[in-house]
Amino acid sequence: MKNPIERIFAVYFSPTGGCKKISQKIGFTAAEMMGLDLEEMDLTNLASRKSLHEFSKGDLVFVVSPVYASRIPNKIVGDLAVCLKGQGSYAVPLVVYGNRSPGDALNELRSVCQGAGFSVLAGGCLVARHAFSDDIGRARPDTADFEEYRSFVADLGEKLKEDDLEPITLPDDYEPEPYYKPLKEDMTPAKFLKAKPKTDESKCDQCGICYRVCPMDSISRENYSDVPGICIKCQACIRKCPQGAKYFDDEDFLSHVAMVRNNFTRRADNIFQLYI
Ligand SMILES: Cc1cc2nc3c(=O)[nH]c(=O)nc-3n(C[C@H](O)[C@H](O)[C@H](O)COP(=O)(O)O)c2cc1C
Repeated sequence: MKNPIERIFAVYFSPTGGCKKISQKIGFTAAEMMGLDLEEMDLTNLASRKSLHEFSKGDLVFVVSPVYASRIPNKIVGDLAVCLKGQGSYAVPLVVYGNRSPGDALNELRSVCQGAGFSVLAGGCLVARHAFSDDIGRARPDTADFEEYRSFVADLGEKLKEDDLEPITLPDDYEPEPYYKPLKEDMTPAKFLKAKPKTDESKCDQCGICYRVCPMDSISRENYSDVPGICIKCQACIRKCPQGAKYFDDEDFLSHVAMVRNNFTRRADNIFQLYI
């Protein structure tokens, strides 16, 4: 049978750019192999997650999310379940993790895609630099990763030529494993759920980039130092501030980052799965 794919999409939530980079790399690789263009859909912005995105048969959709606490970010997973409508199109969920552990995030995203009406062909857990520190997952993804993506996409392309595509599905009663509980350097629990970014007023030039990049719309438009909304610790405002004016000073948060840096700098593996 001929490859049934007519359109290819890279759909991602990516506050600090790791998921975006991986989506583009894998999406372009697949598009090139199949002689198609890649269409990108960025769901990082809150408004884009509040709109409905419908796909149709013949679409191949790479759905890409970061791993937070070994799961899909809990404030985002509900949006993804509602804003994506598969209608029998094919999905490949990919979770991007920062060199510590992907936990159960891939199955969670796979179940979201299944529930949204996609036929889920394959999935992956892919390593990127950790949003918390450049020392964790440093310079990932790199050329060795890109080679692995290429062979994964080639395997998928071969499978797509088969006549009967009956993917193995997750059982209906699937429940994701519990969230990872972050630890401090002394291996006791790190509690930073309520931590919010601070602003060094001597560096801030009021450009408003932090306000615009916050995926939760949590920064005040009137006062960029004020964060009245929920902070998911994504680090978008920290990493995208051109003046380096944003920072976290929460002790538990900083101790957790140090713990991950102390224990998880050894090169972690990408994991690929085919469900057909
Ligand atoms: C709040 C938060 C929690 C995270 N939890 C994990 C985790 O449990 N395991 C892991 O390996 N990486 C974890 N990471 C790292 C991210 O998965 C990684 O940095 C990813 O590339 C972020 O995607 P982005 O660059 O598209 O924003 C976490 C990052 C953040 C911001």
